[in-house]
Amino acid sequence: MSERHRSIIAVYPGSFDPITNGHLDLVERGARLCDRLIVAVLGNESKQPLFTVEERMEMLREAVADYPNVEVDTFGGLLVDYARNKGATAILRGIRAISDYEYELQMALMNRRLCPEVETVFLMAGEAYSFVSSRMVKEVIRLGGNLAGLVPPSVEVRLRNRVLKGV
Ligand code: PNS
Repeated sequence: MSERHRSIIAVYPGSFDPITNGHLDLVERGARLCDRLIVAVLGNESKQPLFTVEERMEMLREAVADYPNVEVDTFGGLLVDYARNKGATAILRGIRAISDYEYELQMALMNRRLCPEVETVFLMAGEAYSFVSSRMVKEVIRLGGNLAGLVPPSVEVRLRNRVLKGV
């Protein structure tokens, strides 16, 4: 296929435990930059997640249903192997504050070392979400706070049920 007709596939990887509006902002903007965006949930995490991979994928699928070029998947093993298998040429990641930079730089350089054909592309988090993280939304729910505007309403309901009622 000629370069001109090659479609651009990007992978947006993460734990997404759970998805926040910051993630969704990145999905929306990232989806404009490529032909196909695969949101890929890490499946073999060492840290204990609040939601199962299936639950996280379900929340993601609901949230990205309006974007025709966005799909949701799960992966294990090396991210670059997954990206290569999918024919992706880009990994999409968001950067909120300078504190994200070091971790993201290490990951991007390691991934480039492992697979130079796949480029990591960073988008700056939307300013309205630059303080939002999955870890913090879990804490806010646990302590009785309100997440309106920070996560999709259905995710807030699920968070409340899981964190406060254990269901
Ligand atoms: O949202 P997160 O938890 O910061 O996402 C981290 C993620 C999933 C992108 C990262 O842990 C990852 O890519 N893991 C797969 C294993 C891998 O490829 N490691 C080598 C590169 S550092």
